[in-house]
This record gives sequence, structure tokens and C-alpha cells, in this order.
Amino acid sequence: MYDVPFVATPEVVVRRMLQLAGVKPGEVVYDLGSGDGRIVIIAAELGARAIGVEIRKDLYEQSMARIKDRGLADRATIINASFYDVDISNADVVTMYLLTSVNERLKPKLERELRPATRIVTHDFEIPGWRPAVVEEIYEDWRSHKLYLYKIPGREVPIPAAAKVEDNWLAQVVELIDGRRSIEEIAEKLGTTTRRVREAVEQLKKLGAVSEVKILR
Ligand SMILES: C[S@@+](CC[C@H](N)C(=O)[O-])C[C@H]1O[C@@H](n2cnc3c(N)ncnc32)[C@H](O)[C@@H]1O
Repeated sequence: MYDVPFVATPEVVVRRMLQLAGVKPGEVVYDLGSGDGRIVIIAAELGARAIGVEIRKDLYEQSMARIKDRGLADRATIINASFYDVDISNADVVTMYLLTSVNERLKPKLERELRPATRIVTHDFEIPGWRPAVVEEIYEDWRSHKLYLYKIPGREVPIPAAAKVEDNWLAQVVELIDGRRSIEEIAEKLGTTTRRVREAVEQLKKLGAVSEVKILR
């Protein structure tokens, strides 16, 4: 009835997946097919805003209860739905432990919705036709697990406009906007997340200090 049965990723492997993806506090992490919610819970414990999508009602209820028990309800949640139907365009990181055939079916959605520089980590099953940035094998209890890290290609380049800004943080961001640097590069220079810079750029657009954000694929 479901695309993939429930098989849990061991905790050490979950931690390595999130580490490979470089999850940072404040980033938005989606686990597609979230099972008992372990990836969501560990990501939230690392300070991320974590969202699981789980089609099975029993697993949805179980994982929501675990989230509440751990006091993580302010930054972790599970959506009881099919992952094909959930908008994931605000993701910074997506994790998946599905099947190659399901990854193949999800591929057009990932390509359509995810922004440049979004990281995707899959456990054991690759995304056919995508070139991974990292492939890693790790061992746990004599079992080997393969992890694939992908990054959505392309650049988001904010274009400067004339208006001046007062706010200190926004001024730091605007100083680095030159119509060539990408949001990712600006985040790197400022030692922060692309998410925070993207939010600043949105504010700068409203203030008239950025005219548009060009997406270069
Ligand atoms: C292999 S388990 C992975 C669980 C968890 N992500 C982990 O790594 O421990 C896959 C999960 O995907 C769920 N699932 C299968 N098809 C789905 C769909 N179309 N939408 C949402 N969840 C689905 C299953 O119920 C199962 O819990």
C-alpha cells in the first residue's frame, strides 16, 4: 500500500547524515518518509527546524508523541501526508531513506521545488542521474550503510539597488551584494547560513536596496 516499508535508520547513521549535510541551527530540515521521527528529533536537537512527512497514521502519531515528550514541539513537527503532496520549497536540507525507484519518482519534484545550494542526503539509495558530491560508506553493527550527499546546482544572485539601510545586520549583508556574489557566498563570508542571508535579502528587497534575486542554473 505504501511506497516504502518502515525501516529505521540507526542513530549513528542519522547523526552522520545530518553532519554530512552540515545542518546548522535555524535551518529547515525535511525528512521525507519520517517513520518513528528519529531524524526529525535529532535534527531539532541540533537546533534545526525539522519537519517529517509520514503517510502512516500510526507512525505519525507515535512520532508526534515523541516530539512532545522531548519538549521539541516548538521546532519539530510531522505532517501526516504523502511526500508527493507536500511543498518542501523552504528546505535547506532534505533527508530520505526510501528506494531508488521512489527517489526517481521524487526527482522532478526536488528539481522543481528546491532552491540552489539545498543539500539532500539519502541513505542507501541514490537519486538516479544526479551526481553526488560525496558518497560514503559507514559501518554499524557489522552492517554497512551507504550515504549520498547531493547539492542542488545553481546560484541565487541578489542585484543591488540604490536605497540605503540603517540596520546593522542588513548593512553588513548589503555591503557584500554586488550583483555577482551568490547568497551562498555571502553567507560564507559572513559565517552564517544561506537561510539567514536569504531572509535579509527579502527584507532588503522590501526596503528597495535589492531589486531582484537572479537564479542562475
Ligand atoms: C525506510 S522508512 C525511513 C524512516 C526514517 N526516515 C528513517 O530513516 O529512520 C520509510 C518511511 O516512509 C514512509 N512512506 C512510504 N511512502 C510514503 C509516502 N508516499 N509519503 C510519506 N511517507 C511515506 C513509510 O511509512 C516509512 O515510515
